[in-house]
Amino acid sequence: MPKFVSLEEAVSHVQDSVALIVGGFGSYGSPEELLEGLAARYEETGHPKNITAICGISPGDKTESTEPLKGFNIGLNRLRAEGLVDTVMVGNLTDARAIAKAVGDNKIAGYLPPMGVMVNLFRAVAGGRPGLVTRVGLGTFADPRHEGCAVNDRAREKGAIVELMEIDGQEYLFYKGFKPNVCFIRATYADEDGNLSMDHEGLTGAELEIAVATHNNGGIVIAQVEEIVRRGTLHAKNVRIHGKLVDYVVKAQNPDNHRQCYATAKYRPELTGEIRTVAGAVKPLKLSLRKVIARRAAMELRSDVIINVGSGIPSGIGSVAAEEGLGKGMTMSVESGPMGGTIQEGLSFPGVANPEVIFSQTDTIDMYDGGVLDMTFLGAAEIDEKGNVNVSKFAGRCIGAGGFIDISQNTKKVFFMGNFTAGETQIDLTGGGLKIVGDGPNAKFVKEVQQITFSGEYAVKNGQEVMYITERAVFRLTKDGLVLTEIAPGVDLEKDVLGRMEFAPIVSPELKTMDPRLFGEAKMGLAPNSGRN
Ligand SMILES: CC(C)(COP(=O)(O)OP(=O)(O)OC[C@H]1O[C@@H](n2cnc3c(N)ncnc32)[C@H](O)[C@@H]1OP(=O)(O)O)[C@@H](O)C(=O)NCCC(=O)NCCS
Repeated sequence: MPKFVSLEEAVSHVQDSVALIVGGFGSYGSPEELLEGLAARYEETGHPKNITAICGISPGDKTESTEPLKGFNIGLNRLRAEGLVDTVMVGNLTDARAIAKAVGDNKIAGYLPPMGVMVNLFRAVAGGRPGLVTRVGLGTFADPRHEGCAVNDRAREKGAIVELMEIDGQEYLFYKGFKPNVCFIRATYADEDGNLSMDHEGLTGAELEIAVATHNNGGIVIAQVEEIVRRGTLHAKNVRIHGKLVDYVVKAQNPDNHRQCYATAKYRPELTGEIRTVAGAVKPLKLSLRKVIARRAAMELRSDVIINVGSGIPSGIGSVAAEEGLGKGMTMSVESGPMGGTIQEGLSFPGVANPEVIFSQTDTIDMYDGGVLDMTFLGAAEIDEKGNVNVSKFAGRCIGAGGFIDISQNTKKVFFMGNFTAGETQIDLTGGGLKIVGDGPNAKFVKEVQQITFSGEYAVKNGQEVMYITERAVFRLTKDGLVLTEIAPGVDLEKDVLGRMEFAPIVSPELKTMDPRLFGEAKMGLAPNSGRN
């Protein structure tokens, strides 16, 4: 039976040099009060020091704000004081910019495996297995023939966490397991026996796998909850973690430390499936280059498919599809667990309003790795002549891939979407095309990407269909490299396209002009449920 303790007592059980798993996913599910308490203890006593922090996705937000309840003052960022964390092993640090900076400065050793690998490792460790054998990561920076997930010198000095192996003539990666000594997880209710339910949590996460991995390795499971309730009041189906797996329970004293999501202090029942809101008409996006890209990508949508849509420019697809009446029967899935419903944007991402089901992160990733997704639409920071894509290391930041590798390697049709150049541009929408007045300072089509988050070579070998969609040009991946298939009306092939790329793509002999309706104010009027006109 767990002990119900004060915050100070709970965090006193975290010793120097331990491996600590922290639950949560971006803006959701952060065990915020526990993190706050641990940071306060370190400030006061200098302990615990040199810990290894392990997460699927780091809790936090994407900003570098130093205001209360934002950026550097929330989530994993709370552990930023020098000496507290020695090493991180995290699927993505986008939401923990202070920690990402310390990794970039080589102050904290950084291992950044794919997010799906992390949650499946929790499950493997929970099940007493030595690690995880998977194809996920082959050909990317996770592969030991590239960086082996070790993104800085300190990590490289500490040693490898992933090996290449072969089974029946097929290549696989073996990610080594680890021994968690303690974990911080969060739930909504604990009953008097310590059974935990997730009633108000927007995501189910990988909290069960984290708790079992820690418990079965003799570690300490510490849970932060919103409320402690009477024995027998939690329905068995709602109990996610049995009390026998929990060592300490802390009731959050500050409601701001137990928000459903950092985006708002208000609990939103439509994110948990408790209620379904009446969906109003989706407002069409204002015409912009981002909308042009989303429109061109939406033309590829088909009916009755399961799709995953990434953050950034791809998030405009839902709105375009609604405006044009495309993709009837299409189901959206997000790697955080929910399926069906409307994916939220900004800080509310990756929550989903009116979901049809909320899977755990681990179950979702297993489905993705096995090929359940028909299509995915993802952002791109850099693309090179082999069709490799980088989203994990650019603009001086090394943040990891999150679910990007699991999704992009295992989906039949992959669409990368992004601006043709990065930084401030002056591009006029002329009604039926584009006029490029000034381009961004950074090329996105580069000779060689800084880090391989998606391997073009691996995709060709596996027969994936891959397309790269920008506001002014569209490419397809072939075994011979990138083929330019479409350019926008009004742009000059040599000056505005080929002249802005660091390599020469193959120009299709059937080079087409992009549909002029992409660039106009009016609804395109695409044929319902197909995207084709
Ligand atoms: C790559 C990614 C940043 C692109 O974002 P986007 O909003 O679609 O596209 P943008 O072109 O507006 O790029 C976002 C910012 O990155 C900058 N950027 C993009 N590519 C860059 C490059 N090659 N060099 C420098 N800066 C770059 C842009 O200038 C922009 O900066 P700003 O915010 O200061 O304006 C985004 O898709 C991402 O983070 N992807 C990884 C996460 C992911 O896909 N996870 C799995 C599914 S959720």
